Amino acid sequence: MKRIAVLASGRGSNFQAIQDALAAGKINGEIVALLTDNREAYAIERADTAGIPAIVLNYKDYTSKAEYERDLLTAMQDVGADLYVCAGYMRIIGPEIAREFSGKMINIHPALLPAFSGLHGQRQALEYGVKIAGCTVHFVDEGLDSGPIILQKAVEVLDDDDEDSLSERILEQEHIAYPEAVALFCADRLHVSGRRVKILPEANNQ
Ligand code: GRF
Repeated sequence: MKRIAVLASGRGSNFQAIQDALAAGKINGEIVALLTDNREAYAIERADTAGIPAIVLNYKDYTSKAEYERDLLTAMQDVGADLYVCAGYMRIIGPEIAREFSGKMINIHPALLPAFSGLHGQRQALEYGVKIAGCTVHFVDEGLDSGPIILQKAVEVLDDDDEDSLSERILEQEHIAYPEAVALFCADRLHVSGRRVKILPEANNQ
């Protein structure tokens, strides 16, 4: 069974979706810790309810990003998870952490990468005028939303969509895609070769 740590900065609905999938027996793993950079994150309440230890490294209490990243790196090493899941974690992962946890750290982004990386993916998609938007689960590398892609789910952009309505429909797909990706990782079914992530058939699962 894989040990999973979740990094979240706010609402934590993706964190919840992964918890629900675990509770339903869809993922062969357990969440061993929540790590957050925000002491006011609602995700902390979700962790408390589920009896998951929350490690709070309140970013605003730090005088530099380097100092914060050092503490985060140590906290992540102490947790010793097999998989680190960024679920609405709103800070760019520094290169040292990205390197240390390469192949073990994943993120979800509310756009079909490589389009619309960075903040407000849904707004960027609307402003650009694309007809298909969506979400992407990918490995974390040293770039911004640039690691190998594990799963994507598409969402049609409707003529009367605004940022909220589109974000809401993308979020529904995030809540499907993220538990799916975590389940595949925990079943050792992701094979990374360069930029391509192949999903191994269930039968190959040892
Ligand atoms: C999601 O849209 C996610 O894709 C983005 O931030 C949002 C987090 O939502 N990175 P939640 O905290 O999981 O509810």
